[in-house]
Amino acid sequence: MWDKLSGIFKNNNVESDDFIKRIRSLVIGEGMLNEGNIGLIDFAIKNMPTEGNVLEIGSYGGLSANLIIHLMRKHHKNNSFFTCDAWIYEGYKDDLQKMTHSHIDGRDDILRSEYSVYMKNAFINSIRFLSPQNLPFSFHQYSNSFFDSWNENKSEVDIFGRTVSLGGHFSFAYLDGGHSYEVAWKDFNNIASHLLPNGFVLLDDSADGQNFGSAKMIAQIKKDKRFKVIAKNPNYLIQKI
Ligand SMILES: C[S@@+](CC[C@H](N)C(=O)[O-])C[C@H]1O[C@@H](n2cnc3c(N)ncnc32)[C@H](O)[C@@H]1O
Repeated sequence: MWDKLSGIFKNNNVESDDFIKRIRSLVIGEGMLNEGNIGLIDFAIKNMPTEGNVLEIGSYGGLSANLIIHLMRKHHKNNSFFTCDAWIYEGYKDDLQKMTHSHIDGRDDILRSEYSVYMKNAFINSIRFLSPQNLPFSFHQYSNSFFDSWNENKSEVDIFGRTVSLGGHFSFAYLDGGHSYEVAWKDFNNIASHLLPNGFVLLDDSADGQNFGSAKMIAQIKKDKRFKVIAKNPNYLIQKI
């Protein structure tokens, strides 16, 4: 699975999967799912502990969430799957505007608040259409508030109207929410404190040379004896020892 020449992880299991070939054209957010992540997610799901929960932070329109559900079905994994997204607009000029603009991308006819509703509905539609028998437990929350509830074992109502008890261990987490160092590091530590031995974390946008929070975290994680780097393509898949 490791290509000795490039040092990159390759997973051929997903290339012949017709559903995976189609999913990018069915769900919005095509550019947000790195091709290499698909093989890494497949590897993690196939090899994760059978107990514990799967978690996704940052779902957007549901592309990676539907992929995770598909791969869990394929590998006969019955772990519960939780997702969390604040469905906030992350614009090209948000840093400059400090999120004070009510409209997005310089348009005076597309409200930030409507964008949020649009994204959330896109997620609900794609999940209901592509994964009707395996709805995840999905929460419209900032990750810090989600983890507060998780750490306190609270019961919360998810976006599909189900009351769910939060808390417990994780077997695999896909971290693709807030990309600042502060948010990503906090999310990672919250996940790490509940991660089972042999459990995995895939850090989106952690590839060498990137400027996102996840990429900066990798240097710290590599020094942490609780974890080992299992693969990269180009993002990093981490496993708890
Ligand atoms: C890159 S998109 C996720 C793409 C998705 N994983 C996919 O591949 O289809 C990032 C998402 O993270 C969400 N987000 C950003 N900051 C967040 C935070 N602090 N807590 C929860 N969600 C957040 C945004 O609303 C956005 O939908």
